Amino acid sequence: MKPYADLTKAQQQAELVALQEQYQQIKARGLSLNMARGKPSSEQLDIVNGMLTTLSAGSDCYDGKLDVRNYGELMGIPSARALFADILDTVPEKIMVGGSASLQLMFDLISKAYTHGLLHSPTPWAKLDTVKFLCPAPGYDRHFTVSSTFGMELVYVPMTENGPDMDKVEELVQDPTVKGIWCVPKYSNPDGIIYSKDTIERFIHLQPAAPDFTIMWDNAYCIHEVIGDYVPFPDILSLAAQAGTEDMFYEFASTSKITFPGAGISCMAASVDNIQYIQRILSAQIISYDKVNQLRHVKYLKDKAHTLELMQEHAKVLGPKFQAVLDALDREIAPLNIATWRRPKGGYFVSFYAMPGTAKRIFALCKEAGLVMTNAGATYPYGKDPADSNLRIAPSYPPLQDLQQAMEIFCLCTKIAALEKLLG
Ligand SMILES: Cc1ncc(COP(=O)(O)O)c(C=O)c1O
Repeated sequence: MKPYADLTKAQQQAELVALQEQYQQIKARGLSLNMARGKPSSEQLDIVNGMLTTLSAGSDCYDGKLDVRNYGELMGIPSARALFADILDTVPEKIMVGGSASLQLMFDLISKAYTHGLLHSPTPWAKLDTVKFLCPAPGYDRHFTVSSTFGMELVYVPMTENGPDMDKVEELVQDPTVKGIWCVPKYSNPDGIIYSKDTIERFIHLQPAAPDFTIMWDNAYCIHEVIGDYVPFPDILSLAAQAGTEDMFYEFASTSKITFPGAGISCMAASVDNIQYIQRILSAQIISYDKVNQLRHVKYLKDKAHTLELMQEHAKVLGPKFQAVLDALDREIAPLNIATWRRPKGGYFVSFYAMPGTAKRIFALCKEAGLVMTNAGATYPYGKDPADSNLRIAPSYPPLQDLQQAMEIFCLCTKIAALEKLLG
């Protein structure tokens, strides 16, 4: 098949009729498929079932002399702080270990900025008329939801091959009402982009007008390679410390996609001053997080080297699924010149750019045929993709066979939407 734009109108029309017939046949199958959920499959959860038996008696529940069953150690048990420090290439004093979700730590940090202010805040954000936050997009919808739930103004920053458009970031931070930015520096959600050296350099030398400008460095996919070996990534805190900007950075990570998303552990890494400041406020809120689970994770994961071995086991399950998505797109869509997509080496998504003005239509067609996708537009602030083009494909959860069926539907809907657009 030639690129669709090179076909005559009559050929495009004939192709559309043929595809619509196929679509009706698929719809009649009454399928129920889902490529929206960026979560591990049951097969992956089974890899780490050993987690469930690491602690079986009271005598197992000690981290050195510390009885993890009791109150205390608000910042996390020493061995869990050391484990995350190892994974993120930083030091335990800069780590606080939380509960099962890094998203909760992120929300909580922003919440504290509103109620109490952060270390360098002249005023708690709740007292300000306007708070703006930079949202590189496409990005993680839940980041944007945290911002909107506090009533922030979401400011769109386009993503580039190398991370957020830094010319734009440097310009926007001159506005003192711009209080921060959301970043996923390694295998960004959904593009799978790794921020370049230059982007990182520009971040650590950023000179925002707001003294409490906050970089939410969400390193959710720090060790999450899907294809190929572990890709080292610089420790942002030590780089920023050298540049004198460490207090601007709050880094987050969790074991959600290492062990169990429903029962993992999370961390925030920040300057020692920031950690101590947060600890003071947090001590009014909670006496300690779930330290039994923290110890369970330390016993099971051991250290970074051992955790990386486990990530290779996940990759053995995930790799073929990512490949199935890419194979379908290369086979069905590439020759038609109607879309582009990224080829990530890690993370949880394949980011797809349909012909502008067709993403919503593809989403609707998929839904009608029994395939649930992440909402078109969800990867942009306010759910509005200016080009109506980006769709996020999540290959991890469905079994391979379902995924292949889902991709068949997705490709078909992409073709139909493109032809409808070309035919006006
Ligand atoms: C970029 C990013 N951050 C955070 C999360 C959620 O992490 P957690 O389970 O630790 O809250 C996700 C989940 O998809 C994510 O993609």
